Amino acid sequence: MTRHLLRDDDLTTAEQTEILDLAVELKKDRWADKTLAGPQTVAVIFDKSSTRTRVSFAVGIADLGGSPLIISTANSQLGGKETPSDTARVLERQVAAIVWRTYAQAGLEEMAEGTRVPVINALSDDFHPCQLLADLLTIREHKGELKGLTLSFFGDGRSNMAHSYVLAGVTAGMHVRVASPAAYAPREDVVADAHRRAAETGGSLTLLTDPAQAATGADVIVTDTWVSMGKEEEKAARLRDLGDFKVTTGTMSLADPAAIFIHCLPADRGYEVDPEVIDGPQSVVWDEAENRLHAQKALLVWLIGKQDQP
Ligand code: CP
Ligand code: NVA
Repeated sequence: MTRHLLRDDDLTTAEQTEILDLAVELKKDRWADKTLAGPQTVAVIFDKSSTRTRVSFAVGIADLGGSPLIISTANSQLGGKETPSDTARVLERQVAAIVWRTYAQAGLEEMAEGTRVPVINALSDDFHPCQLLADLLTIREHKGELKGLTLSFFGDGRSNMAHSYVLAGVTAGMHVRVASPAAYAPREDVVADAHRRAAETGGSLTLLTDPAQAATGADVIVTDTWVSMGKEEEKAARLRDLGDFKVTTGTMSLADPAAIFIHCLPADRGYEVDPEVIDGPQSVVWDEAENRLHAQKALLVWLIGKQDQP
């Protein structure tokens, strides 16, 4: 059966670890794996803007011996004249995998349904699982084991990043705290899925409206833009509603003294995070951005390898 990565809990704890271990190997020896040698092409489709995802997939696919085919939806039939399902039926006969950054999670599900090649979510309105693989790799590099660490997310708890921290974090056995106004709390179904997964891994999820409580003793402090792509019309309301959840040096002083700060980028300095934090000594955001490359290469090798198995 073809495996896809549409959301973070598509991977079990053991599978997540396997991919992260492989990412460590590929980071040590960048050209060690030529899984795509042939060369095989991977389609990477963008409905939304991107710097990190576009570059890391393009470079990673080339590192693996393949050819990236970067498609902008604006210049394709997808999203206009053609459905995700029909597009997938065309692509699966020509490419080794399909990577897609889009709006609705339902579109990704339709793309993956019955498709013979792996479909990878490169960010939807609901989840950003590729970012989480890079983030977990980064946390592992700086903090050692993931299991048992406390990760605190501040801001828009209903965003793709918050949902992915919730699901991937508890899968890794972490204690995930989300600090947001009540109206921006993570979606109920995602919370329920996270609690189910946490019961298996020893992790936990705690939803808080008090940022100080969320910061206290945390090992990893994380935030994301207050205005995700597609939410631009809500900007004024979001700046007003999320103001108390900014990550400041005060936030960092409540965390564990050895805490790290991560952010998927791009960042709005002065809104969700102060420059003193993101550009300060506890920030590991540039390692995190680099790790997109290594983590996604591991993901491609792992997914394509799974596909070859009977
Ligand atoms: N973090 C991330 O996905 O960045 P891009 O939007 O630049 O791809
Ligand atoms: N939440 C952000 C993440 C960007 C990588 C967005 O969707 O715009």
